[in-house]
Amino acid sequence: MAEILHEGNIWHLRNRWISYALCELPGGVVAHLYAGPRLNNLNPVGLLRRANLKAEDFSVQECALDRLAQEYPSFGLGDMREGALTVVAPDGSRAVDLRLEKAEVLDEKPALSGLPATRGEGCAALRLTLEDAHTGLVAELNYAIYDDCPAIVRSARLVNKGDAPLTVERAYSLCLDLPDDDWELITLSGSWARERTPYRRPLTPGFQGVSSQRGASSLQTSPFMALVRRGTDEQRGEAMGLSLIYSGNFIARAEDTPTGGARLLMGINDRDFTWRLESGDAFQTPEAALVISNEGIGGMSRGFHRLWENHLLPRRWMGVDRPVLLNSWEAAYFDFDEDKLVSIAKAAADAGASLFVMDDGWFGHRDDDTTSLGDWQTDTRKLPHGLKALGDRVRALGIQFGIWMEPEMVSPDSDLFRAHPDWCLHIPGREAITARHQLTLDLGRADVQEFVYESVANTLKESGAAYLKWDMNRNFSNIGSAALPAERQGETAHRYMLGLYAVTDWLTRDFPDVLFEGCASGGGRFDAGMLYYVPQFWCSDDTDALQRCEIQYGTTLAFPPSTMGCHVSAVPNHQTARVTPMDARFAVAMGGSFGYELDPRKLSDEEREALRTQVAFAEKTQQIRLYGDFYRLLSPFEGNDTAWMSVAPDRSEAIFTFVRAWAIPNTMPPMVKLRGLDPARRYEIAELGEVYGGDELMNAGLCLPMEVNGAGDAWSALYTLKAVNE
Ligand code: DGJ
Repeated sequence: MAEILHEGNIWHLRNRWISYALCELPGGVVAHLYAGPRLNNLNPVGLLRRANLKAEDFSVQECALDRLAQEYPSFGLGDMREGALTVVAPDGSRAVDLRLEKAEVLDEKPALSGLPATRGEGCAALRLTLEDAHTGLVAELNYAIYDDCPAIVRSARLVNKGDAPLTVERAYSLCLDLPDDDWELITLSGSWARERTPYRRPLTPGFQGVSSQRGASSLQTSPFMALVRRGTDEQRGEAMGLSLIYSGNFIARAEDTPTGGARLLMGINDRDFTWRLESGDAFQTPEAALVISNEGIGGMSRGFHRLWENHLLPRRWMGVDRPVLLNSWEAAYFDFDEDKLVSIAKAAADAGASLFVMDDGWFGHRDDDTTSLGDWQTDTRKLPHGLKALGDRVRALGIQFGIWMEPEMVSPDSDLFRAHPDWCLHIPGREAITARHQLTLDLGRADVQEFVYESVANTLKESGAAYLKWDMNRNFSNIGSAALPAERQGETAHRYMLGLYAVTDWLTRDFPDVLFEGCASGGGRFDAGMLYYVPQFWCSDDTDALQRCEIQYGTTLAFPPSTMGCHVSAVPNHQTARVTPMDARFAVAMGGSFGYELDPRKLSDEEREALRTQVAFAEKTQQIRLYGDFYRLLSPFEGNDTAWMSVAPDRSEAIFTFVRAWAIPNTMPPMVKLRGLDPARRYEIAELGEVYGGDELMNAGLCLPMEVNGAGDAWSALYTLKAVNE
């Protein structure tokens, strides 16, 4: 059970795995003491001595703050490092001096107003209230520690209790000051079709980190970073991961400080951000999660997976089987009519799929991507009988119907834009910059929120869709809102996110049985913020089996398999032109929520038969694949082979996947050490008809039956392991 121990001036948050401790120094400054594996005893003297301090006579004089590990440091009063908070006072100064007023162990973890956050059950919660006497600014620091995973979540709420307006220029969610700098930093970066590659480098003096100022967490990086010790690998060593529950502009920065400590900061990016706080107003930061592992990077990932699955992802879909879907995009692009879609859906149904999704191109007069976003009326040239008729024809095949929308966007060539030119993000007098020929609706506006809600709700009602792919295909430019005065223009990007979350919240509440899948040109908004509303996200537009090994490997650092939309597509692959065997494409797509991205009518009879077997396998194994304990075994970034496995919580079953990218002749067949099994049990591998001990598979390894000469590129293995009853 998670608990909060309070002794003297120390608060110690602790569960089975981890401890997190802080203390109040004389005068009310809040120092950070410890974050790491669970401690039974905590004597702060040594931790404070590290900062050349004594608990009893601390004073902010002589820049003592510059050496002190703090919980929520600010700028301008002696701490020369980057702070978590910058606020402009009525006198124009930016210094803030927060002192503890109150500490409360709460009965319940409070929800975050307007923002996604981990839910309150199964945790212990602490609130510290600090105040800056000079301005009347109050900062509430909220912490929670969960019973069932090595995780702490944190956020801050700022309240202006002074008489005059304040302007917040920076309000990060978290600061974590660590007493040494002997760490390596891991972040995720990439681009369209190559999302979330892990990069690892030593901490060196100065700043390192990642950020987005694109208006979305982005394809290019992810609101995640981890610190690991040198030598920490998938199984062994210390790892600390941070993830921000937010989908907009963010920053994650690590500073190797001059005195030999490390400071981690994470929150909304302060680039192009200001927030005006009138007297009495409050500002809520997003929540950040800290996961601590002593079992390597793999342990950290499993910590995140449990935290998100048990406390963040939509409950309606947790542990629930997902439909095997077929999406029309790469099958038809914009070129379809009702009969064509129905015949693709029929082929999907014949293969055993349970959901057919009509992608882009069904509304306005959209024959390509230059037009019609915002005009969510059915294009009767293509679908003369309307959405309901199409949905009914698909449902008559015995499968569900799903639909694509890009609700946050407007095409300049649309009735919506002609009627409401001021509804998009824009700066009056400046030329609008389009991307993919589209503009971004200003979701911070109540009238736009209403429009987006109505458009999606009407489409869902009319079509009877059981699934919605919510796409978003451009980043922000011309960031300005016609609904805000000049002094609030810096609020535009965050107000957009609040509006997006509000609309998504209304829709997912009003249509609880519709499966929402997020998408942003692939995985361009794959973050813990969106995953509060949508249980799965299209991982990448790149479905090439080898590229997907990398993308999915990186994604699982911070997110569980159930959240990754993973499809088998046709060859040559539409993104890489690479030809890989069907088996490999299937084995890799078994890494997440499964589906197809191809025209099944164009497959050979043999391939269509294979589809039936695949769908049956996908359905039979999905509880373990999606919700089991996940182990990365071989990294595509370190060699030619990728392997991973998912193990049932009771370790009675497991699914193992292996892919060798390039064939290597005249070598011994690969030998892979498995993880997470019960060493005392024996497991049968059905596909091989062989039985091994769990200890044997983990210590000696499994030798794969690869005929290395002539194996061909992208050789794969997909095995089910079952404990043998003895
Ligand atoms: C980008 C998505 O990632 C694709 O899957 C597809 O839905 C297109 N948009 C449609 O325009």
